[in-house]
Amino acid sequence: MRAPKGLEGVIVTSTELTKIDGQAGRLIYRGYDVTELAGNVSYESVAHLLWFGQLPTPPQLSELKLKLAASRNLPRIVEEFLKTVSGVAEPLSVLQTSVSLLGGLDISKKSSTIDSSIALSARLPTIIGGYYRVRHGEKPLAPRSDLGHAANYLYMLTGKVPKDQHVHALDAYFTLLADHSLGASTFVARVAASTLTDVYSAVVAAISTLKGPLHGGAPIYVWEMIQSIGKPERAAGWLRERLEKGERIMGFGHRVYRTEDPRSRVLKRLARQLVDPGLFNLAETVENEARQLLHQSHPDRPLDTNVEFYSSLVLHAVGIPPELFTSTFACARSVGWTAHIVEQLRDNRLFRPEAEYTGPSDQVLRGKPETPAVS
Ligand code: COA
Repeated sequence: MRAPKGLEGVIVTSTELTKIDGQAGRLIYRGYDVTELAGNVSYESVAHLLWFGQLPTPPQLSELKLKLAASRNLPRIVEEFLKTVSGVAEPLSVLQTSVSLLGGLDISKKSSTIDSSIALSARLPTIIGGYYRVRHGEKPLAPRSDLGHAANYLYMLTGKVPKDQHVHALDAYFTLLADHSLGASTFVARVAASTLTDVYSAVVAAISTLKGPLHGGAPIYVWEMIQSIGKPERAAGWLRERLEKGERIMGFGHRVYRTEDPRSRVLKRLARQLVDPGLFNLAETVENEARQLLHQSHPDRPLDTNVEFYSSLVLHAVGIPPELFTSTFACARSVGWTAHIVEQLRDNRLFRPEAEYTGPSDQVLRGKPETPAVS
């Protein structure tokens, strides 16, 4: 039996974490609609829900917040690494290598998978903040244990305690992006975990999927597209030209949703509250024109905004520079990746599908056998 290309529609495992109803445009974390969670409970509560199976009681939430805050500092060798490479390397590679180093340093191997998961998620903002500051000629900052996860992340970039409105928006973004069932990165994390490798290595594998534009990497392209269009009246022509060249419009379409991505609705509302009305009007015009053109070119395939379109505006509004959009996605998704790794290990079976061989057969070696070179 041959699975369809890209495993579209194929069920390869079961999960209690996240359900996506692609026809209705709903996303559910352990029974809770994500559009209700975002902004109404903190990202730390959502992390508790995904890691431990239920929303926390107030003492459980305080305990998790304390653990996250206590784990934020980086080992000296990772700090040194950031100072050495941040000026020359791009952020995702630095993030990936820093996580790999953290895994290499976790030499006691005594931490449980869940404790490693908490420590890892706590440290991603410190890595990204350190990277960004060194890259722009500033000293990395020590994390603030009195700030929540989203507030500390913004603080680590700017050195200023952020506005409540920005913290609230980033916290909601983190919740909306915390998990999405078997997206490419999560699938890769589960495949890696199924070999019984450690959490850090499985997360390194997950981060590796984010460099392309098809998964997680789109907000920066959305941002560049909106900047390049510049004025609402240029939107239709700009988009038509790209579609005629066979290019894809970033921030549109999804493998699973056949309607608007529910996360996009929440992010659009946040963007409307946060960004300059001129910018919002430009983005909304691009959205409407793109939807119309995509409907004309693909009348049978609903192609609507996905999570990445308005993410770009929200991230910009709270002060995240475009070069960090994808790393910020990794921060949010680290909770989902690690919750999936925990789930995979609870009832593990090594992933080992097969490939249909389509190469040549019955080839015959001709001529004299090659002698291995000595030098
Ligand atoms: N712009 C233009 N055309 C698009 C499109 C987009 N954003 N997304 C899909 N299409 C078209 C494809 O070209 C294809 O057309 P064809 O049948 O004439 O060849 C058709 O719609 C189906 O696309 P397909 O590649 O099978 O969809 P998919 O489910 O594999 O792809 C994405 C999903 C997300 C990879 C795809 O929609 C995409 O590339 N979007 C842009 C990148 C993006 O926003 N990524 C973030 C995802 S959260």
